[in-house]
Amino acid sequence: MLFSTTREILDGRSFQRNPLPFLLRLEDRADVVNFKTGLGGFDLVRCPNLIQRILVKENDLYGEGKWTLRGRYIMKDCLITREGGPHRERRSQMRSPFGRQAVEASSGFMVDRAIRFCNDWQDGASIDLFPDMGRLALEIACESLFEIDLHGRSARLNEALLELLVAIPRLPIPRPRLLSARRHARGMAAEFTRGELIRDLREAGLSPKAIRDEIIALMIASIDTTPKTLCWLFTMIGMHEDVESAVLAEFDEILGDRDPTVEDIRHLKRFDRVLDETLRLFPPVHFIDRRPLADVELNGTMVKAGSYMLLCPLYTHRDGRYFDEPHRFDDARWLPSEVKKRPVFSFFPFGAGAHACIGRRLATVEMKLIAATVLRRWRIRPETNLVADPNPQRMSFPCRLERRA
Ligand code: HEM
Repeated sequence: MLFSTTREILDGRSFQRNPLPFLLRLEDRADVVNFKTGLGGFDLVRCPNLIQRILVKENDLYGEGKWTLRGRYIMKDCLITREGGPHRERRSQMRSPFGRQAVEASSGFMVDRAIRFCNDWQDGASIDLFPDMGRLALEIACESLFEIDLHGRSARLNEALLELLVAIPRLPIPRPRLLSARRHARGMAAEFTRGELIRDLREAGLSPKAIRDEIIALMIASIDTTPKTLCWLFTMIGMHEDVESAVLAEFDEILGDRDPTVEDIRHLKRFDRVLDETLRLFPPVHFIDRRPLADVELNGTMVKAGSYMLLCPLYTHRDGRYFDEPHRFDDARWLPSEVKKRPVFSFFPFGAGAHACIGRRLATVEMKLIAATVLRRWRIRPETNLVADPNPQRMSFPCRLERRA
């Protein structure tokens, strides 16, 4: 039976709608907290040392969790949904296009694409930033990984991929919108035939269909994460005038009147702190789910094989044991002297270990170059509802654009 009490059904709904208040209300403060919702039972791992054990030190003892496995209905057999040996094999086949050299070689067109994007904006206009940032991130990922310029075709593809993304945690039912989104994404992915990644996968013996599934999974991985972080970054900067002035002063000092290069972004120390603080409060991947392959003992709590285990950046990043006034935006937390005081795994927006985000370097370079390019041209003012309710689940970022003099 899926549900046992009315309370669990109601809890399940509130957890799905907005998991953060639900998790913050949990009264149990143990290292591993078991809770039930209409979605079933979960073991929330709260303790950074256990998070490190599960993701890194003892990663072989855990398989992918239920949500990730359900993702196979949408993403099929791909790096994200593989486990164990097959996962390691695929990861080694995909490594080089995500490496430093390849990402840095893409930095020039990252800036060009950001300029092309914000040149289309109108002074005084009200826009929703999320679809714009989604298209921009998708164009950059596709150009960087598959040498394809999507200009003019990214809006429809972004919509189709979002349709696939939101279907992942749902029951696998072939709804018409989903089938149409899948057809569109497959049609586009079939056009991608260039780039080191596709060459490497072909040489490793993958069929055209398997390569297509990997391309779609990578595009899905890039349309919510980087765009959502950029939206929150612009929102936080727009909400905190002192932070905005400091970030702009740093851009002036390092860049003068040039657009940023990959060399410049290494020197943007204040901006790095603002980005980390944004990822702390609004990690785009809220949950990392795992399944113990055998019964395990975690700091005195027995967790049964096959349980539904959650490691939760959204929750741990706001744990008052590691972050004073945890819901307040304060980038001074990222001064090296402050970072040293906290356990390393109190902050893990990109995961860690064997399944750590393969796109981390691409995403980080891209976010910094886009932000420095856009913010020097535009002041982005979040609309009031964003300021009043900074809900990490949000999918829409209404704001007003003001061109800088
Ligand atoms: C702000 C940006 C991003 C964040 C915060 C982020 C976060 C994460 C996290 C937490 C994981 C680990 C999941 C787990 O352990 O189960 C992950 C995995 C992954 N990410 Fe990202 N991601 C970002 C951007 C990207 C981009 C741009 C791409 C690709 C273009 C990408 C591709 C992937 C893939 C393929 C995996 C699976 C890796 C594996 O299982 O070996 N990510 N990401």
